[in-house]
Amino acid sequence: MNKQIIGFIGTGNMAESMIRGLTTKEFNSRMLWATDIDEARLAYIAENYDVVPKSLETIAKGADVIILAVKPQSIELVLTNLADHIRQDKQLIISIAAGITTSEIERHCGTTLSLVRCMPNTPAMIGFGATGLFANKRVSINQRQEADSILKTLGINAWVDNEDKIDVITAISGSGPAYFFLFIEALQDISTELGLDDNLSKKLVNQTAMGAAHLAQTQVDDIAGLRQKVTSPGGTTEAAIKVFESGGFKKLVKEAALAAHKRSVNIAKNK
Ligand SMILES: NC(=O)c1ccc[n+]([C@@H]2O[C@H](COP(=O)([O-])OP(=O)(O)OC[C@H]3O[C@@H](n4cnc5c(N)ncnc54)[C@H](OP(=O)(O)O)[C@@H]3O)[C@@H](O)[C@H]2O)c1
Repeated sequence: MNKQIIGFIGTGNMAESMIRGLTTKEFNSRMLWATDIDEARLAYIAENYDVVPKSLETIAKGADVIILAVKPQSIELVLTNLADHIRQDKQLIISIAAGITTSEIERHCGTTLSLVRCMPNTPAMIGFGATGLFANKRVSINQRQEADSILKTLGINAWVDNEDKIDVITAISGSGPAYFFLFIEALQDISTELGLDDNLSKKLVNQTAMGAAHLAQTQVDDIAGLRQKVTSPGGTTEAAIKVFESGGFKKLVKEAALAAHKRSVNIAKNK
């Protein structure tokens, strides 16, 4: 059986996470090609993983799956270069470029492409990512399964049936790690202000965040139930939660996510 060829355009952080997962987990059935304008970066990837450096043209002509893993500001040039060489209906194109819509890709490369647009997040770099995926209507069942298995190397996948939902995913899980980092940062700051040293503050707050997320994922209780369980009347947690509530915490989180969503919609419209 011929090996499935996966070609990466751009070998930055996100691509490396995928390459790491693909070369350790499912490499037998696949061959990996890659290109990058940063020659040193491409050499690093080729030295450290079982990846063959190729030109963009060779990848466009020969790969079964082409992964667009460059920054959004570089995508136009990549699409222009790809347009002349891709085999249209025979290949699957997977884009992880934030804010680049399938219609934008089609505008450059034609409307007969099988396209999957993804929105990963930074925990992908350690295999704990959450990726939103949208497939256009030309993606076959096999191609969808292939995209699913490639993106699973970054963590969990969440497929949506409407591309607009990618903007929601951007506001929730795409930008989401930074919301949690902000909360962790604030808790670490007050922890040191109250007298714990930096290392101890980091250790306690990080473990608490991780433990709370694990508990949220494994318990049958809904999230409000979990919170109520640790909130005894007249206790310390209740005192803190009252302060959060009087400061409009949930309303603030809502407004922040709405701002991220609006920005995502506008970026996609090039505003
Ligand atoms: N990091 C995240 O949290 C995150 C989350 C969701 C989505 N994404 C998306 O994932 C994509 C990749 O992100 P990243 O952080 O991995 O980016 P990155 O580290 O900047 O990697 C992109 C690589 O592509 C190279 N490149 C630029 N133009 C090229 C071209 N014309 N042909 C070939 N290679 C080219 C870059 O070289 P130079 O450095 O020399 O330009 C760089 O080595 C982005 O579109 C981003 O929006 C990232």
